Amino acid sequence: MSSISDRKDDHLTLCASKPVGFRTKTTLLEEVQFVHNALPELAVSDVSLETRLLKWTLRAPIVIAGMTGGTPEAARVNRSLAQVAEQRGYAFGVGSQRAMHVSEGRDQTYAVRDVAPSALILGNIGVVQARELSTARIEELVQRIGADALCVHLNPAMELIQKGGDRDFRLGLETIKRLVNELDRPVVIKETGCGLSHDVAMRLHAIGVQHVDVSGAGGTSWVGVETMRAENAHDNQTAALGDLLWDWGIPTGVSTFWMRSAGMQTVIATGGIAHGLDVARALALGATAAGVARPALQALHDGGTDAVHALFEGVETQLRAAMLLTGSKTVFDLQKARVVLGPTLREWLKLPVDS
Ligand SMILES: Cc1cc2nc3c(=O)[nH]c(=O)nc-3n(C[C@H](O)[C@H](O)[C@H](O)COP(=O)(O)O)c2cc1C
Repeated sequence: MSSISDRKDDHLTLCASKPVGFRTKTTLLEEVQFVHNALPELAVSDVSLETRLLKWTLRAPIVIAGMTGGTPEAARVNRSLAQVAEQRGYAFGVGSQRAMHVSEGRDQTYAVRDVAPSALILGNIGVVQARELSTARIEELVQRIGADALCVHLNPAMELIQKGGDRDFRLGLETIKRLVNELDRPVVIKETGCGLSHDVAMRLHAIGVQHVDVSGAGGTSWVGVETMRAENAHDNQTAALGDLLWDWGIPTGVSTFWMRSAGMQTVIATGGIAHGLDVARALALGATAAGVARPALQALHDGGTDAVHALFEGVETQLRAAMLLTGSKTVFDLQKARVVLGPTLREWLKLPVDS
């Protein structure tokens, strides 16, 4: 168990202060341009950021995406960020609840209900761990922290670079189908920084999945995080593989676009969302809400909850400005805004997709 704890703390440390972003690949959200509306006929105060996510009402279309749990430091991060989510009317995700399963006494490191009594809380488990657990056990893990929905994360690229990581990714679809059919709450299928393709979304949709978090490429590189850990452990061969695959993945903008055309009802656009204009662009490509992980952790690390509030205050101001300048009074209006797409994004979207 201590190895899971060490890993969790390593992840927090590396993500808070080391260059673990994608190196050259971007989200491609920068290639989404809105058509300016010089006559919006709106006051800034008319613009509403309110949105619905999994039947919950959020004050703004923002999710603080799942990051951690299992250690005292993780508990501090979870509680601080969940409190911000509660105060700002956002959704909040905990990190993988695997540590809760393998070792008793970890519940408190995920428990945020007391500081976020009304926020939409998302539980989290990896599909490979879920494959080995009964639905009743997973339901119990989610219930113990009072989560409203469960994120099932997919992370094959990261696992391949992680020492002792999973190497067998079979029966993922069957596991997800079981959980969607048997769990008493919504299931969100979530990547962790490499994105979901149109084909994967179609396979998920065919077994009843309605909700996804694309967690695409362009923000935190989990291959990068594990590569740095391999370098620190002088595991040269793994570090070389990680170095090669550092920028592996589908840009967040591309993945977001594909999810709607695959028929998904809920699309959370996480991965490299850096400001409110990116949130606006993701919404215009079909997202229901945007997810932010590492930038929130970095703000907390650098300046505590005040800095996290400042980060999100900025994001909301920028989003509201983009809405006003496109004449969008509501998030729904923004989702219908006309956009012009740049060449690399169009190149990705030229890929034939079956529907
Ligand atoms: C420190 C840290 C730990 C994470 N742990 C998890 C996890 O346990 N489960 C999960 O689904 N995603 C996890 N993620 C992935 C994020 O939820 C998100 O998908 C990814 O970091 C991309 O978003 P970003 O570019 O805003 O960081 C973690 C991210 C960070 C920064």
